[in-house]
Amino acid sequence: MNELILRQPDDWHLHLRDGAMLATVLPHTARQCARAIVMPNLSPPVTTVAQARAYRERILAALPEGMAFEPLMTLYLTEQTTVAELAAAAADPHIHAVKLYPAGATTNSDRGVRDPLAIDPLLAELERFGLPLLVHGEVVDPAVDIFDREARFIERVLTPILTRFPALRLVMEHITTAEAVAFVQAQSARVAATITAHHLLFNRNAMLVGGIRPHYYCLPVLKREHHRQALLASATSGAGRFFMGTDSAPHSQAAKESACGCAGAFTAYAALELYAEAFDTVGRLDQLEAFTSLNGPAFYGLPVNARRVRLQRAPQPVPAAYAVADGSTLVPLRAGETLPWQFAGFV
Ligand code: NCD
Ligand code: ZN
Repeated sequence: MNELILRQPDDWHLHLRDGAMLATVLPHTARQCARAIVMPNLSPPVTTVAQARAYRERILAALPEGMAFEPLMTLYLTEQTTVAELAAAAADPHIHAVKLYPAGATTNSDRGVRDPLAIDPLLAELERFGLPLLVHGEVVDPAVDIFDREARFIERVLTPILTRFPALRLVMEHITTAEAVAFVQAQSARVAATITAHHLLFNRNAMLVGGIRPHYYCLPVLKREHHRQALLASATSGAGRFFMGTDSAPHSQAAKESACGCAGAFTAYAALELYAEAFDTVGRLDQLEAFTSLNGPAFYGLPVNARRVRLQRAPQPVPAAYAVADGSTLVPLRAGETLPWQFAGFV
C-alpha cells in the first residue's frame, strides 16, 4: 500500500500550551486533525469552566485564517474542584472531559490530586453526568520505580475507582505497558485508552542507548520492548477501545536539552505519518483508520468527521527545529531524520 485514504482523524490527547508556543504548534494539528481533546495543564491550570472557555477562545484566535479546527476542552481536577463546577462543565457544550493528574506525576501537575482515592464526591458527579474522567495513570510514590508506576497505579488506584463507580466512563491516557493493555481489555466499553505514536514506535533503548536523548524523554517513560509489542498489538487489533492520542507535548529546546529536562515529545507535526509508520511495521495499515478516526468519536459520542485525508508513502525530511515567536526553538521528535510517510492533504 503506497497511498491511504482515511476519514479525517482527531487527536484525543494533545498539549497545545498557550501564547507563542500555541501559535507555533496549533497549525500542525489543525492541518491534519478536525478536533482534539486539549489538555488543561497550563500554568496556572484550567480548573474552571470560565477558564476553559477563555482558553478555547485563545486557541480559536491563534488558528490561521482558512483552517478549521474544533478544540474539545477539558477541566483540570484539583482537591478544591467543586461539584457545582463539574455540573457546569457537564452542561457546557465545549467541555468534553475532566483530567485527573496525580499531584507531582508530570508537567504542571503540582495542583493535581494528592490522593485520587479521596475525591469520591467528584467522581460520583462525573459518573452521574457521564462526563469522562481522563487519567494520567502513574503513582507518584517515591518508593516505586519509574518503570513500574503505571502498573502500580492500575492496582492501587484504577481498580478501586472503577469498582466503586461502576458506570464511570474513563480513559486511561497514553498507556505504555502490557499491564495497561490487559487491564483495558478486561473492562467493559466504558473504559478506553489512548496510545501515542512514540510509544508504538520506540522502546526505552531509543532514549538511553548510545547517549541520553532528551527528546525521547516523556511521561509515562518509554518502556521495554515487550510492552511496545503489546501496545502495537492492541492498537492494530481492531478493538474499539484503543484510539489515537498523540500526547504531543512541546517544550522549548532549552527546556528539553537541560540537566533536568522536561518530559514531553513534540509529534503533532507528523502525527498521522508516525502512526502509519508504526501500523505498517506489523502489516496492519488496514486498521489505521479505526484507530485514528473512528474509535475515538464512538467513545466520546461524537460524529465521525466528514472529510477524508490522504497519506502517501514518500520520504518526509524532518526539520532540525521550528522557530517559536518568543525567540525559543522547538525540536520535533526525530529531528533531522526522514519519515517514510507523508500527509498529502484532503481528498
Ligand atoms: C506532558 C506535558 O509536557 O504537558 N508531558 C509528557 O511527557 N507527556 C504531560 C503529560 O501528559 O504527562
Ligand atoms: Zn499528556
